[in-house]
Amino acid sequence: MAQDFDSMENSNVSDNPSIHDVSAPERRTFLNMGFGAAATGLFSSWLTGCATGASASASASARAVTGAALGTDATSQLGFKSIPISAEDKLRVPAGYTTQPFAMWGEPVGLPGNMPAWRDDASNTAAEQAAQLGQHHDGMHYYAINGSSAHGLLAINHEYTDDGLLHPDGMKTWSADKVKKAQNSHGLAVIEVKLNTGQWQVVRPSRYARRFTMDTPFAIGGPAAGHPLMCTAADPQGKTILGTLGNCAAGKTPWGTYLSGEENWAGYFAGGDSISKDQGRWGLSKGAWYRWAEHDERFDARKNPNEFHRFGWIVEMDPMDPTSTPVKRTALGRAAHEGAWVGVTQDGRAVVYSGEDARFEYIYKFVSRDRIAPAGGGKTQAQNNRDLLDHGVLYVARFDADGRGAWLPLVHAQGPLAPANGFADQAEVVIKARQASDLLGATKMDRPEWLAIDPHSGWVYCTLTNNSQRGQANRPAVNAANPRANNTMGHIIRWKDDTDFDGRSFIWNHLVLCGDPANVRAEAKGNIRGDLFACPDTIAFDGRGLLWIGCDIAPTSLNKGEMVPMGNNQLLACDVASGEVRRFLTGPVGCELTACTFTPDGTTMFTNVQHPGETPSERTDPAQPQRFSNWPEYKPNGRPRSAVVAVRRADGGVVGG
Ligand code: FEO
Ligand code: CA
Ligand code: CA
Ligand code: CA
Repeated sequence: MAQDFDSMENSNVSDNPSIHDVSAPERRTFLNMGFGAAATGLFSSWLTGCATGASASASASARAVTGAALGTDATSQLGFKSIPISAEDKLRVPAGYTTQPFAMWGEPVGLPGNMPAWRDDASNTAAEQAAQLGQHHDGMHYYAINGSSAHGLLAINHEYTDDGLLHPDGMKTWSADKVKKAQNSHGLAVIEVKLNTGQWQVVRPSRYARRFTMDTPFAIGGPAAGHPLMCTAADPQGKTILGTLGNCAAGKTPWGTYLSGEENWAGYFAGGDSISKDQGRWGLSKGAWYRWAEHDERFDARKNPNEFHRFGWIVEMDPMDPTSTPVKRTALGRAAHEGAWVGVTQDGRAVVYSGEDARFEYIYKFVSRDRIAPAGGGKTQAQNNRDLLDHGVLYVARFDADGRGAWLPLVHAQGPLAPANGFADQAEVVIKARQASDLLGATKMDRPEWLAIDPHSGWVYCTLTNNSQRGQANRPAVNAANPRANNTMGHIIRWKDDTDFDGRSFIWNHLVLCGDPANVRAEAKGNIRGDLFACPDTIAFDGRGLLWIGCDIAPTSLNKGEMVPMGNNQLLACDVASGEVRRFLTGPVGCELTACTFTPDGTTMFTNVQHPGETPSERTDPAQPQRFSNWPEYKPNGRPRSAVVAVRRADGGVVGG
């Protein structure tokens, strides 16, 4: 989500002392480490398994600072020529590549017997919207059918709505029908897609097609299932939640399911004048961003306080099984979850990394108790791992100033997580994961967005998109992991757990501090090698180990003031072995590029253009929907529409290669 919505990413932070502040000389060391460190010493510690984190970190730092020869063209995996920035209302890619927008907001997903056509004036009803792709595509993954790179499923998050575009007259009036249409434009979609003569098409009808809206039942798994704090009048057992909200980033599990993060859910609830300390810690405010509570009492936290506890989870969904019930996995903790990504330990257990995109919040990992089960017994692998993410241990990250870090267990009755501090049981620990992390002294981060695990090295990368409040009076100071005050540019951090993904300690450094190295503001200077970018959000590794980076700079910030000219939001590729970054794709005006997922053969990349023409909602004018962007159809007076974009090489080769 873009910075326009930063109010939600600015919940009431705890008053933890900033115990991880770092001295100026140490800070310089970390700034200087930059992007080059990993390729040399740090990766080898994973491969050999012998270097301790501390010694590996110190030696890598020394190499990076002394400028070891990194990034020669001979070693670069970047097989394309970078493109310039663009302010045009269109997609741009390097020569030799094609882009194909499809699966736009409002197209039918392909439910058998229920495929309402899109209407250009947005007059589709709420019921029709529930059978169509939602607005504002975000996280997404491709699921091959029989291993095919030409036939599969796309699971897609629909993060939020622009109600100015969603209804024919925008928000001039407000009604229960409009609330229902907005709710039906949120959630998840599964579509079946096929490649025919170079063009991707949605298969309609499809037995796989699904929409998950605010009316869809989600089961509750893990320690919070059935807990009194999860019970409502409509669900006295605390076992079933209707709907999912703010679905932002997405991970794909090795057993074939889809993990989606509920991010900015708190902004849907209205708290009135009696907000408790716990509610305030989660950002509940007097009014809501969205006016759902006016027509749906579920979102009035005064009337339904426990409904507030039923969002903020990672949801797991099996796209291949259209009869499956999605599950909210409470063992992974409650947060303003961006998303979740899975590593596998050498003995076959799942380690799920996640973070919460909010200023001064945390990074988590969950280590499963059980090993990932194979397919068998007439069941798919997904079906045989239905309970895998319900049992295990949740940890929160502490990044120390010496380049080491620790995973702190969020386990009831350990340390301060006791009844005297408001944690009667493990359910309360996961429901109040922020408060628990506060007590444990975890490190407050600069808005963790996507994570990605390097398939070749085991290093875990996380984008920290920005945090302009870092270092302000009465706000947390800089620390080693978040080293810049007024961090408007963002950075990418990475770590490697000691010995294996389940390690309780780790080494870490920064891949890159984003922004222009020539920025006039000293603390905003970056150390990018290659094309400039800022505010990283989406990241994903492709099969060759290239790291793809999508940016989310709010249109209101682009090209203004200190923000160097970076044009429309962009997608870049980074060769993490050399640190070089090249700009690969620029989006239409006002969009964010969200998600980056590939067919198994790497010849198609799917990304999303989210919210083309985004503008502060009060400026969205349904009478002039094309005012800021007319992408992708360029119809007279047409609405800009989020869409999937298939990127391919004209010669059929591997994207980026
Ligand atoms: Fe939905 Fe943190 O971006
Ligand atoms: Ca966005
Ligand atoms: Ca963002
Ligand atoms: Ca995001």
